[in-house]
Amino acid sequence: MKLAATGRAVRFAWIKRSGIDLRCKTRNWIGGGQYQRRNQSTNQHAPRIPALEIDGKSYTEDGWTNVSPSILSYLPRKLHLQPSHPVSITRQVIESNFPSPTYTHYNDLHPIVTVAENFDSLGFPKDHPGRSRTDTYYINRDTVLRTHTSAHEAQIFRDNKSEGYTISADVYRRDAIDRSHYPVFHQMEGARMWDRRKVPGGDVARAIWTDFERLPKHGLSIEDANPTTHPERNPLQAEHHSPGEVEAIAAHLKKSLEGVVVGLFSRAQKAAVAAGHADAAALEPLKVRWIEAYFPFTSPSWELEVLWQGDWLELLGCGVTKQDVLINAGVPDQIGWAFGVGLERVAMLLFSIPDIRLFWSKDPRFLDQFSVGENINAFVPFSKYPECYKDVSFWLRSSSSSAGGGMRSNAQDFHENDVMEIVRDVGSDLVEDVRLVDDFVHPVSRRKSLCYRINYRSLERTLRNEEVNQMHESVRKHLVERLGVELR
Ligand code: PHE
Repeated sequence: MKLAATGRAVRFAWIKRSGIDLRCKTRNWIGGGQYQRRNQSTNQHAPRIPALEIDGKSYTEDGWTNVSPSILSYLPRKLHLQPSHPVSITRQVIESNFPSPTYTHYNDLHPIVTVAENFDSLGFPKDHPGRSRTDTYYINRDTVLRTHTSAHEAQIFRDNKSEGYTISADVYRRDAIDRSHYPVFHQMEGARMWDRRKVPGGDVARAIWTDFERLPKHGLSIEDANPTTHPERNPLQAEHHSPGEVEAIAAHLKKSLEGVVVGLFSRAQKAAVAAGHADAAALEPLKVRWIEAYFPFTSPSWELEVLWQGDWLELLGCGVTKQDVLINAGVPDQIGWAFGVGLERVAMLLFSIPDIRLFWSKDPRFLDQFSVGENINAFVPFSKYPECYKDVSFWLRSSSSSAGGGMRSNAQDFHENDVMEIVRDVGSDLVEDVRLVDDFVHPVSRRKSLCYRINYRSLERTLRNEEVNQMHESVRKHLVERLGVELR
């Protein structure tokens, strides 16, 4: 799929929002803010190279660029650092399990990273779907908005400031629109390394077991049915680690993360009792389980799930760090573990927050419900405003058609995330969800038709008919202009 400039004039805009300056092409983009035209060159004859200026740095645009001013406007928000915000409270509670000086806490790393940092340094294969422009926001061919906090792993290993670290940060992924998905969310990553050259007698497994014994005990009921490694499903990195070393790393990793879950959920249960939502005597004991997983940069790998209101929910991913990552970062003698957890996912459970858009709300009826510190309290919804469903149906271009010049969206290269992006650019947080409700191929022309149902609903007020109509009209217009579809 290509998002190349289609020969239209490229213009620039100057957007200043909440302290950072974003200079962007206005072509195609919607998304509010103060736009001002700005030419890069005063020499009329000099070729103009499109560029984005973000936080004082200039990035050349190219055919990979797919960031919009609306997505860039999230960069300064840093919810994980707002003292009484539920994302920040969740971060602080988890961070307290990883004390300094063993762990350095990195909480202000810039979200623009290279493709090499986000993918290559972690061993992502060249054809990994995460690299595609339908899933990831590209500033240009070599530069992305980080899709995960692991993008900083290699650099932090290289800096080698402490044995462990945590990173908390905003991460960006193109995705569906519904109550649990948002194109920006926050992750916390943690890692702990041991250096073979620095442990007593060079016995790294023994050193890890000693540290394991020092971890706080907990009385959690845990299901862990699988062996630590499995030759096909979850292999040992046999050329780098002995089975005994991996047993020690896995034990330390699992106990550390079980401690995180106990810390989080014991606070949440206390809050539920305090709010009268639960009876202390009737509280079910917390149940968690380990399952096997896969990440390109750990092996073996696991996910931790927690039983919450009858369903097993995936809370975090983790594993034994691939030795190649450490070798390439110049610390071949270190071995250890890493994990990553989505903070909104955890915060939604802990604070009973029903819609991920609420985290971005500036409404005091939301923000004032939380207090500074590590207290967890159940969110009290302030009201439910009416929903307004609107459908949009369109034909994709048949793949053989050359009509539309550089336009995209024939049946082969259409991706739903492009529809989502347009709806987000137009409707922002006034859209609750977008669902595909119909999908068929015309028996004669073989063209494909899709119908999406958009639910316009604000979390803060009742929307006026007229503004919903305007938004919907704008969505329709941009579907044609940006995707080249034919409305039905
Ligand atoms: N970065 C992974 C993700 O975003 C999570 C992870 C971090 C897994 C570290 C293993 C180790 O899904």
